[in-house]
Amino acid sequence: MIISSAADFREAARRRVPRFLFDYADGGAYAEETMRRNASDLGAIGLTQRVLRDVASIDLRTTLFGREIAMPVVLGPVGISGMFARRGEIQAARAAAAADIPTCLSTVSICPIEEVARVADPFWFQLYVIRDRAFMRDLIVRAKEAGAKALVFTVDMPVPGARYRDAHSGMSGPRAPLRRILQAMGKPHWAWNVGLHGRPHSLGNLLPVLGKDSGLNDYMGWLGTNFDPTIQWRDLDWIRAAWDGPLIIKGILHPEDAREAARIGADGIVVSNHGGRQLDGVRSSARALPAIADAVGDSLTVLADGGVRSGLDVVRMLALGAQGVMLGRAWLYALAAQGEAGVATLLQLIAREMTVAMTLTGVNRIAAIDRSILDGGQP
Ligand code: GLV
Repeated sequence: MIISSAADFREAARRRVPRFLFDYADGGAYAEETMRRNASDLGAIGLTQRVLRDVASIDLRTTLFGREIAMPVVLGPVGISGMFARRGEIQAARAAAAADIPTCLSTVSICPIEEVARVADPFWFQLYVIRDRAFMRDLIVRAKEAGAKALVFTVDMPVPGARYRDAHSGMSGPRAPLRRILQAMGKPHWAWNVGLHGRPHSLGNLLPVLGKDSGLNDYMGWLGTNFDPTIQWRDLDWIRAAWDGPLIIKGILHPEDAREAARIGADGIVVSNHGGRQLDGVRSSARALPAIADAVGDSLTVLADGGVRSGLDVVRMLALGAQGVMLGRAWLYALAAQGEAGVATLLQLIAREMTVAMTLTGVNRIAAIDRSILDGGQP
């Protein structure tokens, strides 16, 4: 099929991988309202067309956490992305490194920190609030030793959201393993490449707690039982002390929480509702972002995710107040569809679309993108 957008990659991914995986990636919590609004609110952000402003040379380069990168885009953390293509996290990280943008590896990846850190550049690591603090500490040490340039600490998952699709698709629910095998039989390319030859499917970073024979059932079980709902802002002090590099708090949707993040000494936040996978009904990232950016000013770096499916969407997020954008589903679909080459193509599309959006709004560098390019000058 012809691929000209992230939406095309989504359709190609749907054809390529078994339903339990596609729905795990594609789905959100409850009725998926927030997930839909992430995309529709962002897509509805109007821009101002400006002409004849000499935009012959557009520069997408920017600096995030002291490192210059090709564009303000990060491959955001996605659990079990290594199931979507053979050693998927490695393939995606290679494409990101070639495009000169960061890869942020999920705690619950298939490929472990050490393996991905060898190919990702820059390499970031995402950490959950886990009940077993000693294990968290170990992960921080492993990330540091592997050369991680930023720690992204996810705080919006004290419990997993209710994801109805997972139960229906065989990701969880009754007879899940059998249903997954039946689905895989209908996707021979995936079954051969990933199902059979993409082993191990164990969760690389969780081997010390789950063992090498862990699989998807352990993953879902672990998600359900190991996150810690008792954590409070003051508990973040020890993480701040254990990690001396850039610390980014992911899952901020309220200006007051953004200020708390600045108070505990975080270097950045990600405005995020976890892709609409947690509490349905909460604000879309695009709606939450402007007030949060206003609340923190220059005290920390504001990143955002949620509904970004094009370079135009990246520019919209920047105009709303973000300094960088995390991609989630967009890169996962590309990986599922075409592996490393797919992620490389997606990143080229995003860069090209950003260039077009900047050209037609009359800005030629990232730092010049602000609310003045929004229709009416207001979010
Ligand atoms: C894990 O973070 C998930 O959203 O499934």
